[in-house]
Amino acid sequence: MVETTEIETKTETKTEAEAFEPFILGIFCNWCTYTGADQAGTSRMQRPPNLRIMRVMCSGRVEPEMIIEALRRGADGVLVGACHIGDCHYVNGNFKTVRRMPVLVNLIEQYGLNPNRLWLRHISASEGAELTEIVKEYVEILKKLGPNPLKKHK
Ligand code: FES
Repeated sequence: MVETTEIETKTETKTEAEAFEPFILGIFCNWCTYTGADQAGTSRMQRPPNLRIMRVMCSGRVEPEMIIEALRRGADGVLVGACHIGDCHYVNGNFKTVRRMPVLVNLIEQYGLNPNRLWLRHISASEGAELTEIVKEYVEILKKLGPNPLKKHK
């Protein structure tokens, strides 16, 4: 009888984990990743519904507070989308982002969060298919991580 109960509990837990659908906030540069997302949409590529997009004019405009606030409010992951190096419309905005990211990853680790809760990816306007694959990969990784633990403290 005890064994059956343990099996049921494990099965229930697995089902809960499988049912978990992570919420991803995408903060995308207008000129590249946002346009890539638009291109993926007009090409009718199937993207997981887990992503909500916030558009900024340049990834260099992504303030640390935006990321911290998104995670604090319960986003399971934050995906920053930037132009490829050398393609930034504001010359060096994405260089600043690249330099800022390790600091932010370090900061969220100090909050007790897994570093995979924050991703930076360089995705151009013509890479809608790549964006779709990146989002699918991110969803799978976040499913394995489980819900953002900060959600419990809201
Ligand atoms: S304009 Fe896209 S990262 Fe700066």
